[in-house]
Amino acid sequence: MKNPPLTVTIATALLISMTNILHAVPLSGHEPETEALLAQMTLDEKIGQMVQVDSAALKNKEDVKTYFLGSVLSGGNSDPDNGNTAQDWLKFTDSFQTYALQTRLKIPILYGIDAVHGHNNIDGATVFPHNIGLGATRDAKLIERAERVTAGEVAGTGIRWAFAPCVTVPQNPRWGRTYEGYSDNTALVTKLGAAAVIGLQGEKLSAEPTSVLACAKHFIGDGGTENGIDQGNTICDEATLRKLYLPPYVAAIKAGVGSIMVSYNSWNGAKMHGNRHLLTDMLKNELGFRGFLVSDWAAIDQIDSNNYRHCIEESINAGLDMIMIPNGPDKPNNYVQFINDLKALVAEGKVPQSRVDDAVRRILRVKIQMGLFQTTATDPALTAAVGSPEHREVARQCVRESLVLLKNDNHCLPLSKKISRLAVVGVGADDLGIQCGGWTVDWQGGRGNVTRGGTTLLAALKQTVSPETQITFSPDGSDLKNADAIIAVVGELPYAEMKGDREHLDLSPEDIALIARAKATGAPVVTILYSGRPLNLGSALEDSTAFVAAWLPGSEGLGMTDVLFGSQKFTGKLPRVWPADNGHLVTGDPGVKPQFPFGFGLTD
Ligand code: BGC
Ligand code: BGC
Repeated sequence: MKNPPLTVTIATALLISMTNILHAVPLSGHEPETEALLAQMTLDEKIGQMVQVDSAALKNKEDVKTYFLGSVLSGGNSDPDNGNTAQDWLKFTDSFQTYALQTRLKIPILYGIDAVHGHNNIDGATVFPHNIGLGATRDAKLIERAERVTAGEVAGTGIRWAFAPCVTVPQNPRWGRTYEGYSDNTALVTKLGAAAVIGLQGEKLSAEPTSVLACAKHFIGDGGTENGIDQGNTICDEATLRKLYLPPYVAAIKAGVGSIMVSYNSWNGAKMHGNRHLLTDMLKNELGFRGFLVSDWAAIDQIDSNNYRHCIEESINAGLDMIMIPNGPDKPNNYVQFINDLKALVAEGKVPQSRVDDAVRRILRVKIQMGLFQTTATDPALTAAVGSPEHREVARQCVRESLVLLKNDNHCLPLSKKISRLAVVGVGADDLGIQCGGWTVDWQGGRGNVTRGGTTLLAALKQTVSPETQITFSPDGSDLKNADAIIAVVGELPYAEMKGDREHLDLSPEDIALIARAKATGAPVVTILYSGRPLNLGSALEDSTAFVAAWLPGSEGLGMTDVLFGSQKFTGKLPRVWPADNGHLVTGDPGVKPQFPFGFGLTD
């Protein structure tokens, strides 16, 4: 099979400007208020600020008050008990805040959540394309707008902290988190990550009701692990680490990012959560980061699997300021144990008091800057706007700009709205869960109607074509009769994190067979690929008349029909190299033969 013509101009694609971060303001100030508060605090109150507990582990919400907890999070699977709407979430997050405000010093909690492609845990929220799709848009201004929308939806549920943006630079697409990264190109990630920080926080992290604390993650080298294994080992010298993975953090700090999440991975065999050189010397001292460092989910536990107290000592001394703890008192390595152990470590002099003070100072500085001491109330208008048509319109534009046209023989696309018979095949065509991917309502995402208010591709097609057009839908491709064109949706089913690690990245034999069958009818075949990364397409590429990489587009299927029927042009460009075979996948590996190079994308 011959490759299509490579019309890309990589030089243009690499002309990355950083102008978008010039207007942002780095985190600073509030020293007198911070110091005055710190001076009043007991050791128990200080240690509490350093603890972030998963809501599902907090069986007794009053523990927020008892232990002076600084933060609560909802992990991918921890939802409110009574429902999953924006209203339910607001009630839920408020119920923790109420206890924080009953403490002696009334220090509010910061509630944190993985709003990684919109406010994705909430039923009915706007779901944006995953970052790999946003990377294909190359549009920093659009990403800033998208994150403004997400910030509004997050704030509408009483939450002011998003564990985003992920500024990873994934090198090996075997990694299950490849789609969480904008690109395999450092300069592109740097530009888009800074735009996302500004979108979430605003020009400055502030008391504005929709200023949501951003969290650049996962520091550092998460996308460079050997064989693309999640939480694995990144092997390289420091110069390479700095060149490939550090620039997005430098830009995020310039843009004022208030928090950074440390990564599960190791660097040359040593766990990042215990790396004082990188966390304290580099991030805090050299780069002047004044926000706080949060650990990943039970990640400190991996420093020493036999000795939790040792994990605490190592991670806090390395520079971690807040520890994310998923376990309640009924499990090992839980938050009560953490508090007791850290107290003991301070008493023994193994963790200096000054280190605790530095951590708490950083957390308080952010809380003060965000105006949380003035109010933690939520504007009901923000809650009402979760999933609004205006918000969905922005996501629709993101979808439109994220689609990469890889092949278009005989100018098969755009299709005419007046086409008489359109056959739609492939389960993904009418499945919002598949269209959204992982991190959608549940950690791993799911199949079917996972969230309300979205539009599948099939529904979007029905809204787009003329009333005379007949659309047939057969998930298994059993109904292809007399079609004037066939739209085939193929690709990956939802996954997240390590569950998406793959040895081989082949399109499934079923999908390949489906497209072969469609081709055999003689009608033009338009293939839409939903995937978190480039796949090895086998004969599916040749058998398709037109081929669109749609990534994981999210809830707004109309963004696809806008372009498929020519209301808008294709503008998306590949955010990473598309390897030709499974033998060589790692970006930059001299053996990689691109099926399509970085920056490829037809316009018609
Ligand atoms: C992931 C993070 C996420 C955290 C909280 C971890 O497993 O690595 O990206 O923010 O869980 O859900
Ligand atoms: C949680 C996620 C977390 C993951 C880590 C899941 O149970 O819901 O938030 O990232 O565990 O392994």
